[in-house]
Amino acid sequence: MNPVKLVVYVGSLREKSFNKMLARAMKENAPEGVEVTIGDFSQLPFYNGDLEAAFPAEAKRLKDEIRAADGVAIVTPEYNRSVPGYLKNMIDWTSRPYGDSAWDNKPVILLGASTGNIGTAVAQAHLRQMMVYLAARVVGQPEFYMGQAKSKFSDDGVLTDEETKKHLVEMMSKLAAEIRARA
Ligand SMILES: Cc1cc2nc3c(=O)[nH]c(=O)nc-3n(C[C@H](O)[C@H](O)[C@H](O)COP(=O)(O)O)c2cc1C
Repeated sequence: MNPVKLVVYVGSLREKSFNKMLARAMKENAPEGVEVTIGDFSQLPFYNGDLEAAFPAEAKRLKDEIRAADGVAIVTPEYNRSVPGYLKNMIDWTSRPYGDSAWDNKPVILLGASTGNIGTAVAQAHLRQMMVYLAARVVGQPEFYMGQAKSKFSDDGVLTDEETKKHLVEMMSKLAAEIRARA
């Protein structure tokens, strides 16, 4: 059986980001038959409709990367009860030009880590709304909300919480099962 290729996009630029740590934990704990790559969209310009005529090579590369993946995981912090602008910018570019979105029919899982208590629940609700609009196939269950992120990782950024590890594997396994069922 071919491996399921999963690309992970992280909504934080911060070097010591808990969400980056979570993405690395996904790679380290990928279930059998799932290949995890952590994508990079830090070189994207700010979305500007004037740039669409000469579509930026980096935005095209990202769209190709999303299309080539069997599934996408978005791992994001919550900023002011929504999605960081950095991540929204990436979604906006990869949805353009109108009618040529990279998200159409794409299997997606949503995850997030927060230092607060509600574990990015509101940001993910906004993200789910965007993904539904873009006709992506968001896996509804299980959900993944990490609160109190500081207590879940070692000082060198390794996920130490065993329950969370199990839950991560469950998220990736469910996505892989849905992809395989619809292949
Ligand atoms: C501008 C800003 C807004 C924030 N708003 C929220 C919020 O609405 N909800 C929340 O749980 N945490 C919020 N936080 C705290 C983040 O959860 C915390 O900074 C987290 O570590 C960011 O993710 P990262 O470690 O992956 O960079 C906010 C942080 C920043 C910088």
